[in-house]
Amino acid sequence: MDLTSEEQRTLAGDDGEAARIAMAVLVDLGAVFGADRLIPVAQVHIDATLYMVDAGVAFAERMAATGGRFRVPTSLNPSAVDLLHPEALRPPPDLLENSRRLERAYLSMGAAPTWTCAPYQQGMVPRFGQQIAWAESNAIVFANSVIGARTNRYGDLMDICAAVVGKAPCFGLHLETHRHAELVIDASALPRSVQYDPATYPLLGYIVGELAGDRIPAVLGIPPDVPVRALKSFGAAAASSGAVGLFHMVGVTPEARCLEMCTGGRKMEEIHAVTAKDLAGAAARLSNPDLSRPDLIVVGCPHYAYAEMTTMARLLDGRRVNPGIAFWAFTGRCAYGWMRHSGLLQALTNAGVTVFTDACPLLYPGESWPFTAALSDSAKFVNYCTSQTGLPAAIGSLADCVETAVTGRFRRSAFP
Ligand code: F3S
Repeated sequence: MDLTSEEQRTLAGDDGEAARIAMAVLVDLGAVFGADRLIPVAQVHIDATLYMVDAGVAFAERMAATGGRFRVPTSLNPSAVDLLHPEALRPPPDLLENSRRLERAYLSMGAAPTWTCAPYQQGMVPRFGQQIAWAESNAIVFANSVIGARTNRYGDLMDICAAVVGKAPCFGLHLETHRHAELVIDASALPRSVQYDPATYPLLGYIVGELAGDRIPAVLGIPPDVPVRALKSFGAAAASSGAVGLFHMVGVTPEARCLEMCTGGRKMEEIHAVTAKDLAGAAARLSNPDLSRPDLIVVGCPHYAYAEMTTMARLLDGRRVNPGIAFWAFTGRCAYGWMRHSGLLQALTNAGVTVFTDACPLLYPGESWPFTAALSDSAKFVNYCTSQTGLPAAIGSLADCVETAVTGRFRRSAFP
């Protein structure tokens, strides 16, 4: 890789030990992927915020202790606990302590305390065409696809290095020539009512991820006025059933005004049509067959925006959650603050919903909560729930989640 003289000095340690380590990691990463240079990035989003292993804490603390400072605006993914209300998720003491150590390390290096997996709805929004280095799969796919910013699927620790150096190796999705669609998924045959139903999009995203794997899909047949909420749940699902880092939706996303634009004019050999039956099949795959009575409802994966919280409140319509059910809603600090000031937080709390900020529902300590089954409107949550927590789970619409929570009886709409 060609390094500038300034980059070579950083690699030699002239800017301190943390910058030297970060530069060495980025140079190695670039060599693996055939990058010829580093490029400046305008923002970084760090995913290495959930305490998993001691090595993650040790790396963050070492970078902070050896002079690491973030050179560009840097946001943080959720913590393993609700840092504002640590008692809420009943974390074991060592989980809380390690989460606090990560918090101290990242804030001392200059990160913004966003603690959200949806930084794109919290004021740290990149522009179209801007080079960034984001980690967290749903945020990456949203930034690339819906905004048209450019990032690879960076992983834990690479994100810290990019923030310390303010650069990333130039390869993959940073390059326009690597952003063309590689297969087509045609949803035009779906009935119009299904195309406009928000509950369609996690299922469609799940199917697209299965078909695309790590390739770039172009999706046809989506209404141009599809809501942002649908694009968010679609991308999160596609990035969890597959490794999709960028999708194009023809007539919807900015690099896909027409099919030729997102294919680069190449003829597509692989075309899949998605039908209503396929959506029903995805819903069945995302439902544990033994699940008859969930006692945990989870929404906000990815973190809900304020508007999604108001939709949920409208569906609750003044009713209360059944006492036998825990209804958890996850969001970031911005939406949480607005909810507090508008009275929405109090209204949801009075209705029996627990609103968490900062945290991720997949990290709740199972030993503290004797749940038997979960229902969620998130394909990503359901996809990972059983494997990560051992809890059987099923997908439903937000309306299904609310009705199940209120009545205590499992309700799931037919798809479609
Ligand atoms: Fe966010 Fe955790 Fe879901 S990081 S996308 S709430 S799995």
